Amino acid sequence: MSEGTFYIKVYGCQMNVYDGDRLRAAMNGMGWSEAEEIDGADFAIFVTCSIRDKAEQKVISELGRFRQQWESNKRPAFAVVGCMAQRTGEGLTRRFPWVRVVAGPRSLGAVPEAIAASRKGGGAVLLLDESPTELTDLACVPETRENAHKAYITISHGCDQFCSYCIVPYVRGRFGSRAPGSVLEEARRLVARGAGEITLIGQNVNSYGADFARDPKLSGYRFARLLADVSEIEGLKRLRFTTSHPVDFTDDILDVMASGKNVCPSINLPVQSGSDKVLREMNRKYRRDEYLAAIGRIRAALPDVGLTTDLIVGFPGESEEEFGESVSLLERVRFDLVHTAAYSPRDGTPAAARSDQVPKRDRARRLAAVNAIQARISAGINAPLVGETFEVLLDEAAPKGEGLLQGRTVSDKVVLVSAPAGMTGTLRSVRITGSSAWCLEGELI
Ligand code: SAH
Ligand code: SF4
Ligand code: F3S
Repeated sequence: MSEGTFYIKVYGCQMNVYDGDRLRAAMNGMGWSEAEEIDGADFAIFVTCSIRDKAEQKVISELGRFRQQWESNKRPAFAVVGCMAQRTGEGLTRRFPWVRVVAGPRSLGAVPEAIAASRKGGGAVLLLDESPTELTDLACVPETRENAHKAYITISHGCDQFCSYCIVPYVRGRFGSRAPGSVLEEARRLVARGAGEITLIGQNVNSYGADFARDPKLSGYRFARLLADVSEIEGLKRLRFTTSHPVDFTDDILDVMASGKNVCPSINLPVQSGSDKVLREMNRKYRRDEYLAAIGRIRAALPDVGLTTDLIVGFPGESEEEFGESVSLLERVRFDLVHTAAYSPRDGTPAAARSDQVPKRDRARRLAAVNAIQARISAGINAPLVGETFEVLLDEAAPKGEGLLQGRTVSDKVVLVSAPAGMTGTLRSVRITGSSAWCLEGELI
């Protein structure tokens, strides 16, 4: 008999997708069944994000919708877990009495039991991470994934970089690498179950293994080794990783990418700013010229590489000239895609305490300007691809458009293809017939 029904909704980054998939496996394992809709579920689990204020506001407004339902039939109850749960803590249960479990990202392992216990009554359960180094992890690996054809594997927890704008080190705690054996075992299982593509994920994957130094058996086992070992798995078509940090992006990683047959030539290398002054104040630990040199080394080793970056505009104290240096860096590198964001102050971070915040309207104006510039650059990169043929891994139905599947090239460009749903999960040759700044369109050949 089913213990009850649960519904999971994931906000934020791929690490949350992975955590949501693991929670799903744990709940199923305890005899719960997953509901299609949130209305009518006994328990709703929100896996939340704190990276910007907007990410938190989405969850707050979604939670607010359930007052009436809760008052009339006491369903669904909520478990709010992850980064925002850690940051907001107990206040959530006071504001929304239907929130019965609040758990930080290092306490996920205790969530399924807490949900089961809370159904039997009693007060709200708070599982906030008191220590940034202790970890009550979910032992299970995801059984079903949000997408069975492209799977994520978290290879490290937390982050020790402390970029001055960023909340992640405070909510996710200290950096720690998963043992290579458990990553490899999970990867093998995924491939055996039909995953064609695996993405290794972490806030800073390149520092994988930095914490193994004191273990004589693992000392020296770093990210490049892990990448090489996973890429050897028989049957794995494509291997990716994200996110990289310019400081730790060493040449041995490029060597593995250049020699491996299945490591995709696509790299997300967040730059955050093109100004040395802003980079210093962001505590990014590299200069503009060092970043550009890294891009030069990458392009020399991987001529067809797809390059993306993350950029923040309107960091405290950023002048128009310094903003212009970010624009000129985009013009110079010509990234395939840029994840742009207007700076959002996060309480408790050093940047949020500064008195020289850039006015909101200036941040918004800079964001719109940089987006327009990058749209022109991306469109200019994509247009000449019309007529070319690429191997595309079709991985899911396109979000819009009847009969369209969506896939990616090795360089990580999105391609929309008219194809039967049965082709999902297969590699196909696709001729490009159209392009925009955001994606390509193509036909099967
Ligand atoms: N670990 C990765 C990504 C971290 S979060 C890295 O080091 O780049 C993803 C992106 O969110 C960041 O790259 C950054 O561009 C953005 N971001 C983080 N904190 C932010 C803030 N306070 N305001 C606006 N954007 C932010
Ligand atoms: Fe945040 Fe910097 Fe860590 Fe990325 S590297 S998660 S931006 S502190
Ligand atoms: Fe958000 Fe936490 Fe990921 S703050 S971006 S969910 S690590």
